[in-house]
Amino acid sequence: MKRILTILLIALSCASATEAQQKKKIGNETPAQKEQRMAWWSHDRFGMFIHFGTYAMAARHEWVKRYERMTNEQYQPYFDLFNPDLYNPKEWAKRAKAAGMKYAVLTTKHHEGFCLFDSKFTDYKATNTPFKRDLVKEFVDAFRAEGIKVGFYYSLLDWHHPDFPIDILHPQQPANDSDTAYARLNKGRDMAKYRKYLHDQITELLTKYGKIDIMWLDFSYPGNKGHGKGKEEWGSVELLKLIRKLQPGIIVDNRLDLDDYEDGADFATPEQVKPSELKSQYDGLPFETCQTFSGSWGYYRDENSWKSNHDLLTLLITSVSKSGNLILNVGPTARGTFDYRAERALDSIGLWMHVNNRAIYGCKEAPASFEAPENTMLTYNPSTKRLYVHLMKYPSGTITLAGYAGNVKYTQFVHDNSEVKREVKGKDLVLTLPVLQPPYTIPVIEVVLK
Ligand code: GLC
Repeated sequence: MKRILTILLIALSCASATEAQQKKKIGNETPAQKEQRMAWWSHDRFGMFIHFGTYAMAARHEWVKRYERMTNEQYQPYFDLFNPDLYNPKEWAKRAKAAGMKYAVLTTKHHEGFCLFDSKFTDYKATNTPFKRDLVKEFVDAFRAEGIKVGFYYSLLDWHHPDFPIDILHPQQPANDSDTAYARLNKGRDMAKYRKYLHDQITELLTKYGKIDIMWLDFSYPGNKGHGKGKEEWGSVELLKLIRKLQPGIIVDNRLDLDDYEDGADFATPEQVKPSELKSQYDGLPFETCQTFSGSWGYYRDENSWKSNHDLLTLLITSVSKSGNLILNVGPTARGTFDYRAERALDSIGLWMHVNNRAIYGCKEAPASFEAPENTMLTYNPSTKRLYVHLMKYPSGTITLAGYAGNVKYTQFVHDNSEVKREVKGKDLVLTLPVLQPPYTIPVIEVVLK
């Protein structure tokens, strides 16, 4: 009897230990339902981020209000003069499409608090500027018309709202960071009221603009001695329930501070990381890496460190080779156009994507049994059973696919379907390449598997 009791006790304690490790759940979606909801996103792989707001006028980073510790009064001219007269999202959508981007996410409100949409809960919006138009409405219509899925970025932070408590990231953060200074500055500010504003605005965004494919909330910084913000402040659990209720098919990022929940996010958001730092799994989540062409997200006139076409394609290929997505950002100018450097970058990506996109769409990490030759990266399409060898550095003469010999039916370049001759050498397959690199930054060989 005693033995049985001990066994029972051990079993019970084991059960509670696994329970403790198990994450909580907010909804009741099954893994199969989730896979179906995420299917287009996992297939499409490549999106456009657009950071647009009054900070485009300052043209020196979207965090300019914070970096220069500006007051609302100092920031006001950007609102009073906001007039992106060349704003034509149809053109943006055409450029995104030509670059091979399948979805686009626009900042409906960034940390500065300025709303590009006609919200009934604030006066601090585009329709009250000289421009007078609802940019979000026009964006949604234009991108949908091109067959591009639409997403909304929405900043959880708000450096303009009078009820948003001043914290460690706010432009008016007290210099000495003392509790008493925060208390004095935050007298009269009411987080509950801001939280309501946030939930009300998300409701507007998800009810007034038709089907929205992605909700990109940004971001949480809980703790910080009570001067950060996270799930309690945002009301994240309620907010996520609201989002899922209003748009059941929507895909949500992981910046609501809901890591404790199994279904608190759909994808991880490694930001501006090097390709080599990307991983296939982020605590069970797939990733979408968000990247800029240059340093900042908003238009930055004097920033000159722009990534090369090779850098950008490397980001895209590496993402797909680890079963993830890439969302590449454009920060339009205050006239509402893409900067010439962004246009050039998009055009070059488009040139490559036009003929190489079957090595990207529908592709994922290659099965572990296929080894990537030196200076190459592999992507794999499980439905067509084709493997793609991306030649990151063009080899001279030949390339050896070690151990592939028994598995391969045919090999060809993707950009022109020209055969790449192969020769079996034991277990390996040796491919003979043209001496001159084909005219693509990263040529791709398609390996048709048996
Ligand atoms: C951030 C930044 C920001 C940008 C974003 C995109 O954390 O605050 O300005 O919008 O992430 O990932």
